[in-house]
Amino acid sequence: MKVLVIGSGGREHALAWKSAQDSAVSEVFVSPGNAGTKLEDKLTNVCLDHDNFESIEKFCSLHDVQLVIIGPEQPLVAGLTDYLESKKINVFGPSKAAAQLEGSKTFSKDFFVKYGIPTAEYASFDNFNEAFQHLENIVYPTVVKADGLAAGKGVIICESKLDAELALKNIFQDNAFGSAGNRVVIEEFLEGEEASFIAVVSKDKIIPLATSQDHKAVGEGDVGLNTGGMGAYSPAPIVSESINQKIIDQVMKPTMDGLISEGSPYLGFLYAGLMIKDDEIKVLEFNCRFGDPETQPILMRLESSLVELCLCAINDDLDNYDIKWNPMYACGVVMASEGYPEKYEAGKEVTIENIDNLHMKLFHAGTTLQDDKILTSGGRVFCATALGEDLKEAQERAYELVDKVKFEGSYFRQDIGYKGIYLGVKWV
Ligand code: AMP
Ligand code: GLY
Repeated sequence: MKVLVIGSGGREHALAWKSAQDSAVSEVFVSPGNAGTKLEDKLTNVCLDHDNFESIEKFCSLHDVQLVIIGPEQPLVAGLTDYLESKKINVFGPSKAAAQLEGSKTFSKDFFVKYGIPTAEYASFDNFNEAFQHLENIVYPTVVKADGLAAGKGVIICESKLDAELALKNIFQDNAFGSAGNRVVIEEFLEGEEASFIAVVSKDKIIPLATSQDHKAVGEGDVGLNTGGMGAYSPAPIVSESINQKIIDQVMKPTMDGLISEGSPYLGFLYAGLMIKDDEIKVLEFNCRFGDPETQPILMRLESSLVELCLCAINDDLDNYDIKWNPMYACGVVMASEGYPEKYEAGKEVTIENIDNLHMKLFHAGTTLQDDKILTSGGRVFCATALGEDLKEAQERAYELVDKVKFEGSYFRQDIGYKGIYLGVKWV
């Protein structure tokens, strides 16, 4: 069987690597992939035009691709799933309509209210003056969010009214996020501990994946600018068994049922970003895809076949699916280019020492192969991921792996996993 993974990040390297482990899979194409996917056994990089759905369908037909897994949000929000499905190609990812859960914050907030899903108070504006006026009536800190996709950068935490005014000017007048900022959501600031809940969803069936937590802020101790994620670990002690059940009952099920009654049932990875405080959960956001870097530690622990799981979901056959996990802990440390998430330089040569340890896996993200040399090509360059008997051991191994990888301007947080180690609860 042949599989096509769409995307180029660490998440896609992990999805392709895991797919290739299935003995029924002979080849995994990755479009466009990175140096890591190029160097991996059974993986082949291809360069398809993701805006040209027809060319992707032609490629699948020509190469007898029997499963397409779409990694990032853009092609999902643009409707790639709908097109491929209409051509009878097995594709794992939500439809354009269901992907609106991530594609528009206004859509998702209105959806939460309609279906009684707990979330922060909010108001939505497509007009600068009305939004500006609203700032008079709220408490601070507050959160200003660009409505559309903004590569994880469209959320601004505003300590004061002045900050919020600046954020609105930035979005509406200086066009900081382009058309993603044509509308904004102004939202109540929530305190608590953040957690991610990621599941495989097919209509009204849900297979929760192993728990995880990522570190979004660029600096140690979770300070500084928000990034796509500087590291993640699994399992996450914050998501206790009772919280887990609450998330399923109060967030996931109403969402799946709501989408069914809207006529757009969900298929794919569904990722809820949550704030947890004293057993109370609120949804911060939905992503219509697997998290990056959560994918890397989670898939290190997955013992079942990812390909089989995706095909069962597509065929609405999840009823008796018994997903298997390695009970070990996994920790993934992102190595980024200095300056990320702001300006950074690319094109730095990478050297990697021999990695001869089954508990370690170096997932590539922003890398490219040129004349047999690995060069950096993005903000997040690698995710050094490792397994351990406990989180501390997984963390130590992940940092051992980091030490084997060198490039000019390499930046990584030294404390990935600290919250899990500090909380110290063992729960799988
Ligand atoms: P989002 O893309 O909506 O998840 O926002 C990105 C990050 O901003 C989240 O992971 C939180 O750290 C923070 N954030 C978003 N919304 C809120 C909120 N209402 N209260 C506090 N922090 C928030
Ligand atoms: N790690 C957060 C995300 O994938 O959006």
